[in-house]
Amino acid sequence: MNPLIIFDTTLRDGEQSPGASMTKEEKVRIAKSLERMRVDVIEAGFPIASPGDFEAVRAVARAVKGSVVCGLARAADADIDRAGEALKEAAACRIHTFIATSPIHMQMKLRMTPDQVVERAIAAVQRARRWTDDVEFSAEDAGRSELDFLCRIVEAAIKAGAKTINIPDTVGYNVPDQFAHTIRSLIERVPNADQAVFSVHCHNDLGLAVANSLAAVLAGARQVECTINGLGERAGNASLEEIVMAVRTRHDIFQLETRLDTTQIVPTSRLVANITGFPVQPNKAIVGANAFAHESGIHQDGVLKHRETYEIMRAEDVGWSTNRMVLGKHSGRNAFRTRLEELGASFASEEELNAAFARFKELADKKHEIYDEDLQALVTDANLAAENERAQLRYLRVCSETGETPCAHITLTLDGEERSATAEGGGPVDASFKAIESILQTDTDLLLYSVNNITSGTDAQGEVTVRIAKDGRIFNGQGADTDIVIASAKAYINALNKILQPTERAHPQLL
Ligand code: KIV
Ligand code: ZN
Repeated sequence: MNPLIIFDTTLRDGEQSPGASMTKEEKVRIAKSLERMRVDVIEAGFPIASPGDFEAVRAVARAVKGSVVCGLARAADADIDRAGEALKEAAACRIHTFIATSPIHMQMKLRMTPDQVVERAIAAVQRARRWTDDVEFSAEDAGRSELDFLCRIVEAAIKAGAKTINIPDTVGYNVPDQFAHTIRSLIERVPNADQAVFSVHCHNDLGLAVANSLAAVLAGARQVECTINGLGERAGNASLEEIVMAVRTRHDIFQLETRLDTTQIVPTSRLVANITGFPVQPNKAIVGANAFAHESGIHQDGVLKHRETYEIMRAEDVGWSTNRMVLGKHSGRNAFRTRLEELGASFASEEELNAAFARFKELADKKHEIYDEDLQALVTDANLAAENERAQLRYLRVCSETGETPCAHITLTLDGEERSATAEGGGPVDASFKAIESILQTDTDLLLYSVNNITSGTDAQGEVTVRIAKDGRIFNGQGADTDIVIASAKAYINALNKILQPTERAHPQLL
């Protein structure tokens, strides 16, 4: 077997997308899903960024056993020691340290000479090796760095003890031939190249992140850094699902294997979309709703006669379920638990299972057919409620009548104490949000409000995402219910709860 290492950075670079910030609990939920998918390395965050980021990396390190958990650190002692501390309890950990190597970054951002940068890189790798043998070094903005200088710093980093050398196209500037040439040249020219795994990390500013990564793999890279749904800084990172399925589907070309369970791709994609509030476009490869849909009569006819006429992958291999209708009103607890476990959900305790099952019964009273998507939303929603939010929805009544001003009456608990308010608005959702705000008084801006039906039909659950901003920080909230006004109120309260527990954090590449 000739392995290709899959390094997922959804929880670190993905989270750097403005508006995609995640709570510790959300990060653990995504990390468990990545672990189930058998991702090799999970980059859990940038521990020095804030106490919250440190705690999130520590929580992921504790929770994950089947993947290496990685923490990012600039080439500075304090960063590296903070990452080492956060990762201490991981079954297997990696420290990923980086410094910029392009002339523009060295001169304008770091204000350091190339010699100083090499010295810093060596010191950082050596310091990280005090914590773990598994050290990765990245030459930030390698895509715009001079090849001779890259060769020099990569050789020095390997000599200092780095086991993985990552070559990022930080600003998404490269094109496939050029990037492949860089990787091939490094592997050929660096004298100790055989002592490290070469990795790539491509951004998608020109829409070339996946193409550049795959070209690099053909040139000898054996680790790809990527994110679920291609989430990431600006236009995003290379998308994990596209890399993995390209390598698998075109094994004739790549002749490499990943150890991934690809059936976990769609559930993980959905989880990430729900948590971040970044929906997946319908025509997105692999995980878009239309990725396996055949609209035209000719295509449908061909697929029915012989699937491979128009399909190069099987929908079920990436986790699109064929058996869609699963449970109903009369289904028991056992069937409920079994199906959810098949879908990758797990329950920390019997109480959590019981709470989710009670919600399932409530839902089954309102909706006859419960699909996998409903079950997933239900557990996510149950998990959200279980997160000890300071503010919780207790009661909501709205009035909506032609010719009358819509109004909402709401009761919340805030730190266990009941509070009620009534407000009018342009519609029942607007009135509900005003009533909630009059209780919580957070003074936030609403950036996004979106409703999606989880399944089809008028009895479908509505899944609402709300994005709010306060003092330059952005938070997302989600809620699901067959009543979209209630789903909206839940989503808004979920987002506001994050403001009620704010944390300051730093960005790794802006310091
Ligand atoms: O894009 C980049 O250069 C990064 C590094 C920190 C690896 O994210
Ligand atoms: Zn990046």
